[in-house]
Amino acid sequence: MRLAGKVIGITGGGTGIGRACALAYAAEGARVAVTDVDGASAEAVAAEIRAAGGEAAAWPLDVTDRAAIPGVVDAIVARFGTLDVWHNNAGVSTMGRFVELAERDWDVNMDVNAKGVFNCSQVVARYLIARGGGGKIIVTASMAGKKGDVAFLPHYVASKFAAVGLTQAMAAELGPHGITVNSICPGYVRTSMQDREAVWEGELRGMSADEVRRLYVDDTPLGRLETAEDVARVAVFLASSDADFITGAAIDVNGGAWMG
Ligand SMILES: NC(=O)c1ccc[n+]([C@@H]2O[C@H](COP(=O)([O-])OP(=O)(O)OC[C@H]3O[C@@H](n4cnc5c(N)ncnc54)[C@H](O)[C@@H]3O)[C@@H](O)[C@H]2O)c1
Repeated sequence: MRLAGKVIGITGGGTGIGRACALAYAAEGARVAVTDVDGASAEAVAAEIRAAGGEAAAWPLDVTDRAAIPGVVDAIVARFGTLDVWHNNAGVSTMGRFVELAERDWDVNMDVNAKGVFNCSQVVARYLIARGGGGKIIVTASMAGKKGDVAFLPHYVASKFAAVGLTQAMAAELGPHGITVNSICPGYVRTSMQDREAVWEGELRGMSADEVRRLYVDDTPLGRLETAEDVARVAVFLASSDADFITGAAIDVNGGAWMG
């Protein structure tokens, strides 16, 4: 049990990569605070963990709601006695050509994927510094946080480059407090986000969603779509003491779809 005794909070934990990470953390012995803007999905994941014999509780949390975050972090600490690891996983995407993007697409992607990481990490970092003893912050960034030539996602690319940059800046400033900060950069992960993107991209390219998924597989040397569990195994490593001397990293978990 690599995470026994640890308390881990995660955003966007109600489905997809966040759900897989929450379940994996619990399976390794962590007590998990599952949060999501969709509070019912967070509660369902917490119930799934409890049904499997683990310990978890859920809170509704919109990472763009700065004012709500301190109350949720306080409630997690009150419930579990402490907080050791915070995983900024919540994310959104929309798709379009750069010349056709609406300001709203830019704002929504930046607000959740970039500012949401700032909003939550700042509150958690203040808590961890005051508590002492270090801690860990993890960010689900993306292959699109290192590679700009991703079709139809210029605003998403900008938000994920911001998340990777913020990871490094936080790692530098929080390192002296024993707090590590690392990003995970997944590739083409089969989740509800990908289901939406495959339809949008198919419309933009004039092909079916299945044909778009075939492009994703062809772009991946390991020859299949990534699973949420592929990401979760690396998240467990980053949350564990095995990763104590890693900070400021943005770890590729993409089947070779991008090698930087
Ligand atoms: N699916 C992929 O191919 C892929 C690849 C690289 C990175 N990512 C990133 O992984 C993360 C998880 O994505 P996923 O594929 O599981 O997507 P998903 O859409 O299946 O799940 C995202 C979760 O985030 C929640 N969420 C959305 N807005 C929120 C907000 N404002 N506050 C709190 N929660 C919010 C949603 O309710 C949902 O539960 C995202 O940051 C995404 O950008 C996904």
